[in-house]
Amino acid sequence: MGFVKYEPQGAVAVITIDREKALNALNSEVLEDLDKVIDGVDLDTIRCLIITGAGQKSFVAGADIGEMSSLTQAEGEAFGKKGNDIFRKIETLPIPVIAAVNGFALGGGCELSMSCDIRLASENATFGQPEVGLGITAGFGGTQRLARLIPTGKAKEMLYACTNIKAADALSWGLVNAVYPADELMPAALKLAGKIANNAPIAVRNTKKAINDGLEMGMDDAIAFEAKQFGGCFESADQKEGMAAFLEKRKHEPFQN
Ligand code: HXC
Repeated sequence: MGFVKYEPQGAVAVITIDREKALNALNSEVLEDLDKVIDGVDLDTIRCLIITGAGQKSFVAGADIGEMSSLTQAEGEAFGKKGNDIFRKIETLPIPVIAAVNGFALGGGCELSMSCDIRLASENATFGQPEVGLGITAGFGGTQRLARLIPTGKAKEMLYACTNIKAADALSWGLVNAVYPADELMPAALKLAGKIANNAPIAVRNTKKAINDGLEMGMDDAIAFEAKQFGGCFESADQKEGMAAFLEKRKHEPFQN
């Protein structure tokens, strides 16, 4: 796909937003390529995805400002919906998605990272929502996901004042799980993805569903929903093998499904 690379390596696949000369900014074409790549992920084989940006400087520097500059209200809304639909597709993919944030994650870039399950960052990463400085609101989910991921007051400061934050602050606020020197970011992302991919796939998927769907529910409904995901793992080959291996004091065979 022109602006989005897809590299499967065993049970893990790396998706790279590859428009380096514009710091991987998301124009319509990039978004469409990303959508097609996501639709093409072989969910029978791939157990964890990593999304990153091409080059050393930027994850994604936002939606393409040149393209947005002449949009009408209706076109602006449609552009927002286009990105939102794709990011929601990423968020609700059955398998976990890790954002390897290798530099600027601004506007739509910060929003893309937040549609992933887990964010790892390089030391030079910068997160921000500069939209109100451009005369628009965040439009790919930033007002919603940022306010859910970090303290509300911090999110509001980033969104109202266009305060960018460095990786160390993102770490202390829980926006990212860990920070690495630039050259250690992808190895760390691949290691984490590999750990996830080695666990029982149905159990990992049901865990993602229980967390994400459960967070939208009241506690009684959420724990009932968890019970369904829990029950859904039983009688699977992996449940039988995982428990038998423990009881027989041996390492489990590779999980199959
Ligand atoms: C289009 C972009 C871009 C963007 C960078 N570029 N960000 N083009 N849209 N979002 C282009 C520049 O125009 C330039 O192209 C090239 O990438 C290199 O960028 P420079 O600005 O020269 O680099 P530098 O001085 O290092 O500054 C890096 C930067 C800056 C701080 C990241 O580029 C910047 O502020 N970018 C915009 C960030 C932003 O505001 N993002 C939010 C967008 S709104 P040329 O051709 O000159 O070399 C958004 C809304 C989402 O995301 C929701 C929509 C519904």
